[in-house]
Amino acid sequence: MKYHPIDNTLFIKNRKKFMAQMKPKSIAVFNSNDIYPISADSGMPFQQHRDIFYLSGIDQEESMLLLFPDAHKEKHREVLFLKETNEHIAVWEGAKLNKEEAFRVSGIKTVYWLQDLEKVFYEIMADCDTVYVNTNEHYRAKVETQTREDRFTLWWKSKYPAHSVAKSNPILQRLRSVKDPIEIDLIQTACNITEKGFRRVLPFLKPGVWEYNLEAELLHEFINNRSRGFAYTPIIASGNNANILHYTENNQQCKEGELVLLDTAAEYANYSSDLTRTIPVSGRFTQRQKEVYQAVLAVKKEATAMLVPGTIWEDYHVEVGKLMTSQLLALKLLDKADIQNENPEWPAYKQYFMHGTSHHIGLDTHDYGLLAEPMQANMVFTVEPGIYIPEEGFGIRLEDDVVIQEKGNPINLMKNIPIEAEEIEELMNA
Ligand code: GLY
Ligand code: MN
Ligand code: MN
Repeated sequence: MKYHPIDNTLFIKNRKKFMAQMKPKSIAVFNSNDIYPISADSGMPFQQHRDIFYLSGIDQEESMLLLFPDAHKEKHREVLFLKETNEHIAVWEGAKLNKEEAFRVSGIKTVYWLQDLEKVFYEIMADCDTVYVNTNEHYRAKVETQTREDRFTLWWKSKYPAHSVAKSNPILQRLRSVKDPIEIDLIQTACNITEKGFRRVLPFLKPGVWEYNLEAELLHEFINNRSRGFAYTPIIASGNNANILHYTENNQQCKEGELVLLDTAAEYANYSSDLTRTIPVSGRFTQRQKEVYQAVLAVKKEATAMLVPGTIWEDYHVEVGKLMTSQLLALKLLDKADIQNENPEWPAYKQYFMHGTSHHIGLDTHDYGLLAEPMQANMVFTVEPGIYIPEEGFGIRLEDDVVIQEKGNPINLMKNIPIEAEEIEELMNA
């Protein structure tokens, strides 16, 4: 891991909050992700499942966390199962957590090696009635592979069919959506690394630079600052590529007069940041580009002010739609007739702004959060309106990450990342 150790009181508190929601005589289990194989002996780089990380800080494959608040053996209230390591194994396989290190990271005293799982699990299952299973119920999830978690669920259900099942996911969705100050600091660190990358790119971009050159500059800065790299697949989209919302080829040349949309941000310690800026290849916006840019920026500023405790995500989107509609009228992209004839299911503004304005962000870029419940202080959201105009050859999106406050406007974790058109031009021409 490239990141500095995290204060383990975060994970201790997270487990306490989770266990407070569990039924009597129940256990909850959380598994690591698999290392996805490529072919022959190679595999994809490991990325920890965010739930076991949130509850333990363990950032290693083949790990399992078991919580059992009512265990009559106190040592079984919180248990880790890890892949065995010792000095000999370490020489061949590289350093893995030993039991003391696992305790230091997680605050969990009881650590077994994985080969003891069946024996210990047997004893625990005889003592509990309900097992909390961690299914993925994220509103955007689309998973085709069987995860280690799924395999574990199939395994214990075949052995212990008489136990009841309960769901971990709604508890985690609610807990993870409200961030601890330690988490906000980690997200701020990710945002600060993102800022360094963006400032590196501003004077670097010139006509003739390729989109992948920008990707390389960003990655250089991210890794040099202890990030693993991009928090999500980077979108570096010049000209009309910006109008393909999920453009990730990043293989075209940036041309004089075009804009480049950079939806590129760093992770830090598994926490995401999520930034979008749209900048002119030649260092100056045209008048029309600037007009559209200011419209997007105005919607972003007004939308941000609506992120306060009590706001409902869906209502917020309706209100942002109204703001966007008035900007599109002023830009003459829509006229009154478009609005009068609009389909309420797909309002006219969606021709130019077809995605959501905000999502929760944290350990996942599109983080957990129960969208039907009102917003609360210490939730972290993106704000990311855009206007996409294929017929004019450009698309503009601007995106920052903000923390909801008890009172007043949210705090912008990206307030130091240049966004005003004039400042962008100045830095590009310095
Ligand atoms: N980069 C993904 C998003 O903005 O939601
Ligand atoms: Mn983004
Ligand atoms: Mn986003």
